Amino acid sequence: MNILGISGSLRQASFNTALLHAAQEVAPAGMNILIHRLHELPLFDQDVEEQGDPAPVTAFKEAIDNADGLLIACPEYNGGITGVLKNAVDWASRIGKARQTAVLTGKMVCIVGASPGITGTVRAQDALRLVLRRAGARTEPQGDVLVFQAHTKIIEGRLADERSREALGRHLQGFADRLSAEAKSY
Ligand SMILES: Cc1cc2nc3c(=O)[nH]c(=O)nc-3n(C[C@H](O)[C@H](O)[C@H](O)COP(=O)(O)O)c2cc1C
Repeated sequence: MNILGISGSLRQASFNTALLHAAQEVAPAGMNILIHRLHELPLFDQDVEEQGDPAPVTAFKEAIDNADGLLIACPEYNGGITGVLKNAVDWASRIGKARQTAVLTGKMVCIVGASPGITGTVRAQDALRLVLRRAGARTEPQGDVLVFQAHTKIIEGRLADERSREALGRHLQGFADRLSAEAKSY
C-alpha cells in the first residue's frame, strides 16, 4: 500500500513534516509512506496552466496518481489551511492538458496535524476536509489526530510523545483497513 505524505508547511523544522516522519515509523506493516515536498510547486496561475503544467506540477500529479491514498499533515494558519496546502490542492484538482480526470477525484485522504496551540489544528483540518471534498477527494470519516502543544511533544524533529505516537499508529491502521476493504470490494 503506497501512501503519499504531504506536509502543508515548507519550514525546515516543521512540526507537521515531523509528524509525517513519525507516521513513516508507526505505519502498519505493508504501508509505505513516501513524502512529496511542495517546495518546487509554483503558485497556481491559470495562464501558466494553459501553457501546460510546469514540471513540478506534473511530478506532483503523478505522485498522487500513483498513490493508493494521501496522508496530509495540515498546519493551521489563522484558523484555516496554509496557502502552501491550498495551492497544492488547487493544482491537483485540475485536469490540465495531459489527463482525462483530475488526480484528486475519488482519492482517499487521511488528515493529521500539529500545532503549538491548544487546539492542534482542528479548525484547519475541518477546513481542509471541505476543500478536498469540493475538489472531488474523499476524506477519512474517523477521528482526528490533533497534536496540540506540539513543541512539548516533537523534540528535535521527532515525535517523542508516546500517546501521540499510539494515536497516530491507530489512525493509520484505520486508514489501511479502509483502503484494504475498498480494494477488496472492487
Ligand atoms: C501566519 C500564521 C498564522 C498562524 N495561525 C495559527 C492558528 O490559527 N492556530 C494555531 O494553532 N497556530 C497558528 N499559527 C502557529 C502555527 O501553528 C505554528 O507556526 C506551527 O509551527 C506551524 O506548523 P509547522 O510547524 O508545521 O510549520 C500560525 C502561524 C503563522 C505563521
